[in-house]
Amino acid sequence: MRSTLFIVSLIASTGAWAQADLAGAPDLAKASGCYSCHANGEKVVGPAFAAIADKYATEKDAAASLAQSIQNGSKGKWGRIPMPGHASLSQGDLKTLSTWVLTVKP
Ligand code: HEC
Repeated sequence: MRSTLFIVSLIASTGAWAQADLAGAPDLAKASGCYSCHANGEKVVGPAFAAIADKYATEKDAAASLAQSIQNGSKGKWGRIPMPGHASLSQGDLKTLSTWVLTVKP
């Protein structure tokens, strides 16, 4: 009985962590300099995050491919300006950012 309770609370707290992690994504994006080229709802140097979410809405594995684009840079998908790579971001941060970008609404 006690151990069941422990497992339930463990699952609950892991879920809460995942949520909190995505909630911190805008701050992570700010701290990582993303907003010097991107905005949520309009094109700046790079495409709006909401436009990216829209373009890849039906693509499975989108988060993984966007994580690659953020890490290694991207060119030719949105226009003539390339995005430089972000080699210093951890795998966890890349996953958080790419998952979050896909949730941005205009
Ligand atoms: C120096 C400007 C600049 C910075 C800084 C920048 N981006 Fe970009 N980003 C761009 C441009 C330009 C494109 C379009 C590239 C293309 O056409 O393939 C882009 C494209 C993207 C895409 C779409 C890639 C694809 O495969 O379609 C994502 C996702 C993205 N950026 C996320 C980020 C995140 C997250 C950060 C912060 C870690 C960031 N960007 C920082 C300029 C920038």
